[in-house]
Amino acid sequence: MNYDLIIIGGGPAGYLAAERAGHAGLNTLLIEKRFVGGVCLNEGCVPSKALLYSAKVLDGAKHGEKYGVIAANVTLNHEAVIERKNKVVKTLVSGIKGKLKKSKVTLVEGFAEIVGKNAEGYEVKANDQAYTGKRLLIATGSMPVILPIPGTKEGLEKGYVLTNREILDLKAIPASLVIVGGGVIGLEMASYFNSAGSKVTVVEMLDHIAGYTDGEIAEILLKNYQKKGVEFKLGAKVVEIREGAVVYEINGQKMSVEADKVLMSIGRRPVTEGLGLEKIGVELERGRIKTDEKGKTNIPEVYAAGDVNGYSMLAHTAYREAEVCINNILGKKDIMRYNAIPSVIYTNPEVGGVGETEETAKQKGIEFEAVKISMMYSGRYVAENEGGDGICKVLIDKKYRKIIGVHMIGSYASEIIYGAGLMIETEMRVEDVKELVFPHPTVCEIIREAIFEF
Ligand code: FAD
Ligand code: NAI
Repeated sequence: MNYDLIIIGGGPAGYLAAERAGHAGLNTLLIEKRFVGGVCLNEGCVPSKALLYSAKVLDGAKHGEKYGVIAANVTLNHEAVIERKNKVVKTLVSGIKGKLKKSKVTLVEGFAEIVGKNAEGYEVKANDQAYTGKRLLIATGSMPVILPIPGTKEGLEKGYVLTNREILDLKAIPASLVIVGGGVIGLEMASYFNSAGSKVTVVEMLDHIAGYTDGEIAEILLKNYQKKGVEFKLGAKVVEIREGAVVYEINGQKMSVEADKVLMSIGRRPVTEGLGLEKIGVELERGRIKTDEKGKTNIPEVYAAGDVNGYSMLAHTAYREAEVCINNILGKKDIMRYNAIPSVIYTNPEVGGVGETEETAKQKGIEFEAVKISMMYSGRYVAENEGGDGICKVLIDKKYRKIIGVHMIGSYASEIIYGAGLMIETEMRVEDVKELVFPHPTVCEIIREAIFEF
């Protein structure tokens, strides 16, 4: 069967590309080997947020006395949390399937392998059926990095070492959970399981958590979670995983911590195995598919979008990259820009950031000014956050006074950060932002407060 476009992988990059392509009239085939919706909908963004919301409701009820609300015997029913999470996932996946149908996309459920090229286009095989596409879009996403730490393989087989897939479906709350990797997945899962009652220990190789997050904000997040009882072992190297314990080393000294379950969350890597990329000569660079700003690979009419290109590994990046690919296929001018992609950590408090941090601006030699203010400058924040210690930081470039970075920790940061991204994307200057009207009282007013400090 011949198609204008074959898309391999039905995650955010693949399904959105398929929707857009189908909507624009391209005869489109989408091949997905597991579940439509990909990692994001089935074992990533959405299920984790469903769990985190339950934790937030639980924490609100438990600590309601600060706000004059007394609730007795508050407990978490983890089974019900997972059931609700599954319902949320099901609703969203069926919504995606409905949209694909509406866009007249053909969906094939099976493993896709590129087998070559003929006069009509690229040949792809799935479920022993051959398909040909004038163009190809590879959107096969990513999978967890698993290091050959002694005991890991056995732990994965026996079920006490988990990845994001298994942890989001755990039947019961483990008494103790050791999280290897204090990045985004690690911190979000630490947040849920700490609220749910596990003794959580995060073992992180670096001397700080939360990767490229603004350093001061990462420190505030660390303190908040230490206060909640999460233990952090920083500068620690895991050397062995046993049933019931994780052995780690700090400055050459071996120590161990009890672990009913161990979560491996030390990063993700692009999925390219078995795809047959070599059959058509697609270039890889350290495991990722190399693409240009239009999403093109080195092979004509072969595009790649989402985690598989290894640039930013976020669902919203995948969406935009997919759109850029489709626009270019349709002959519309469009390029991918990465300077205003928001990042969020859905912990409680939430962390949101976009653009340069002080650290990256210094590394790049950008001359900048930064303003940091307490979230307590926002009336709504004070009303809703007893004892809150959130901050907001705004960075501008010295020469043009353009907004180049906004970083915050506190309530609604995940929702507010979009507005900051818009400011960077549209190259707003301090003076432009000063003229904007922010609704009052809101936490987003904090950006306005910070701007008037310049
Ligand atoms: P994927 O979602 O990985 O989809 C790729 C699809 O391709 C998969 O369904 C796979 O089965 C399929 N596939 C692979 N090979 C083949 C083949 N040969 N044939 C057919 N099909 C194939 N990002 C955010 O922006 N916000 C968040 O809050 C967030 N939370 C996350 C939480 C967790 C626990 C994890 C693990 C990730 C999270 N992410 C989040 C990241 C986000 O999930 C990814 O960036 C996003 O899913 C990438 O989309 P994608 O389409 O590139 O790949
Ligand atoms: P990550 O890159 O965010 O964090 C991995 C952490 O593990 C880093 O801090 C790293 O220093 C540490 N690490 C690496 N090797 C280690 C070792 N041997 N021992 C101890 N620590 C080690 O990766 P993570 O958390 O696995 O998430 C993968 C990706 O998924 C993220 O990069 C992000 O793109 C996406 N994601 C996004 C979310 C969001 O947007 N809210 C939520 C969850 C995931």
